Amino acid sequence: MSSFIERISELVVGSVESVSPDAVSVLLELDAPQATALNTGTPTAFPRLNGYVLIPNETGATVAHIIWIGIERSPYPKRSGFKDFGLIDLPFPLRKMTVTPVGTLTARRERETGVTHYNLVRGVVAFPSVGDQVLMPTPEQVEAIIAGKDTDRRVPIGISPLASTAKIMVDPDKLFGRHLAVLGNTGSGKSCTVAGLVRWSIEAADRAKRDSATAINTRFIILDPNGEYSRAFADLTGRVRVFRAGDEENPFLLPAWMWNSHEWTAVTHAQPGAQRPLLMQSLRDLRAGRSTREPLHVGIVRQVRLFKSRTLAYIADGTGTSYTDFVPLLNCCHLFQNLVEVMRDFEGRVEEADPAREHIQALAARAEEFVARHVVQRGGRPTYNAPNVAEFQTFIPLFDAVEQALPAVPMAEEISEDAPTPFDVRLIADHVDALSADTATNANVANFIATLTLRIRSLLADRRLSPVIAPEHPPTFANWLEGLLGNAAGSNGQVAIIDLSLIPADVTHIVIAVLGRIVFEASQRYQKQHAEGKALPTVLILEEAHTFVHKGTEDEADIVSPSRLCRQAFERIAREGRKFGLGLVLSSQRPYELSPTVLAQCNTFLLHRLVNDADQNLVARLVPDNVAGLLKELPSLPTRLAVLLGWATPIPVLVEVNELFDYQRPRSADPDFWEVWTLANPRPVDWPRVAREWTGDEE
Ligand SMILES: Nc1ncnc2c1ncn2[C@@H]1O[C@H](COP(=O)(O)OP(=O)(O)OP(=O)(O)O)[C@@H](O)[C@H]1O
Ligand SMILES: [Mg+2]
Repeated sequence: MSSFIERISELVVGSVESVSPDAVSVLLELDAPQATALNTGTPTAFPRLNGYVLIPNETGATVAHIIWIGIERSPYPKRSGFKDFGLIDLPFPLRKMTVTPVGTLTARRERETGVTHYNLVRGVVAFPSVGDQVLMPTPEQVEAIIAGKDTDRRVPIGISPLASTAKIMVDPDKLFGRHLAVLGNTGSGKSCTVAGLVRWSIEAADRAKRDSATAINTRFIILDPNGEYSRAFADLTGRVRVFRAGDEENPFLLPAWMWNSHEWTAVTHAQPGAQRPLLMQSLRDLRAGRSTREPLHVGIVRQVRLFKSRTLAYIADGTGTSYTDFVPLLNCCHLFQNLVEVMRDFEGRVEEADPAREHIQALAARAEEFVARHVVQRGGRPTYNAPNVAEFQTFIPLFDAVEQALPAVPMAEEISEDAPTPFDVRLIADHVDALSADTATNANVANFIATLTLRIRSLLADRRLSPVIAPEHPPTFANWLEGLLGNAAGSNGQVAIIDLSLIPADVTHIVIAVLGRIVFEASQRYQKQHAEGKALPTVLILEEAHTFVHKGTEDEADIVSPSRLCRQAFERIAREGRKFGLGLVLSSQRPYELSPTVLAQCNTFLLHRLVNDADQNLVARLVPDNVAGLLKELPSLPTRLAVLLGWATPIPVLVEVNELFDYQRPRSADPDFWEVWTLANPRPVDWPRVAREWTGDEE
């Protein structure tokens, strides 16, 4: 048996020639292994790209990752031992490699057993110096580098192709706690990886749970626009809730009363000015159970209080930050334009002799003056001038005067237009119409409102959509939440799959925005109510993330659109979700098109094959670790191979994701042209049926 020193010397493969923070060049010994190394005890491929070497230092060893291997012809060969002065020096091939330091391996020897435990820590404590020896890691060391001895790494996700015995385990707290992005081209294996992560997490939790009598307490919510995932979990009966539009047993429902006012505005394209306030008023009325109209003076007082509170908010913000930037400034001018319209409208409806009338007129005139001063038409386009605090202050006495001139209205507890209070969704168009009949004094406004109610009616009349947003038997909000987020004991399953494949494409954005927002708010509220402020760990998975959290463009800043709401909902989850125990998993083919805010908040990345240049560059800029070499492999990664890097792993590693059996894979097999062409696989065609379905004709 060889001594310790001898063993170390057997492992030396070269020495350091030059050092810079991101690259160390190493001269390989003449007798260093070539192709297959036996000196570690087990045959290992060496030297090999993406393999690891160790450079011992005072704290342990710096782990470095091989990024380049080559031969350089040097005039002075390194000769050991014999004198050969008589020989002519011919250029001599020397093997060299470039490595990047990625972490530090520390060793702890157990006194009694003499077993050495290795532990890998992130970061490089000491850079090597010229002449330092470079060692090949032993299989135990490779395993410690790749799999880690960290006891928190509990979920196996794959193996390392560099050391085929080393299982790669991850710590779910780290993987899901700070958001994960799974990126790669189509067909590179993202959906399989995501399905695997969920499955392996559940299996690991099952093995480790403390109480065999109850179900494990995991909460995964998969937003599945293509309807791929229900198949992947079909074998886990009773543990997965699949919600699908039109399903008999478990229909996907998203009653429109759950939408907040922004979501309503986005879906109905309600314009600022006349349409939006009416829509808001209707929402408030219906949520408060008021389908009958309130007396005129109550309406006026309510509006005046609303505008007053908004104006006070501008005054309170004395720094002016909220009304000098373009978008807030625009909103501010819209607010006062609105005030003009609303007051002019009331003016037409109060009695001639009503003492409030002159105050209403005064308020409207002042607001008109304000708008004229701040909204200037320049070359056919409006430009906006910033107001100052004193101007806002002039409105306050005018508001008060109107309110005092009217009969007293108690400060009723206002029901918010945003609260998910159930109401009969089908009444909303009629209610808006009724309000508009009361208010609209001129035909133009009435027509303008009619376009809004037309849109609401056609939305509710959509054959595919109406059972989802205006179901006949709507669930209670509590039951609905339980279906989405799972019940207390986890007895209704550990995974919720929202299959959105049957939802009309034009509303999937808003549906995903609403689901994202509600999941976020539910986590937030759970934590607030918890006696010790603890969070409920929940994982929200979004497929095709580039479609739903697209990076924004400047010119859409002032429109409330479904895609903007969707992006905002997920940007908020990405920024704040961690505090409320909500982890996000995004799967996307085009990281370049994803919202940078969301991507920047992802701390762990699983990168599959990425061919596009822009995508690769983006990823290279985002990732925290020094992984130039590994990322160069991205365009050539085969399916199932991925680079795991970021928070969940101390150093970036190449993972061969565990294989899923056919029945465990999401439904997304590559199309089998040949089989169909050659009639090996029949494909009956029924276009009339497709056409009927498409046009909405009953079958
Ligand atoms: N872990 C795995 N186990 C078994 N097969 C896999 C695995 N990963 C990928 N595959 C194979 O690769 C195919 C494509 O994978 P997948 O559907 O996950 O790609 P994708 O990246 O989600 O593609 P898209 O972007 O088009 O949705 C699968 O149908 C499957 O045959
Ligand atoms: Mg996919």
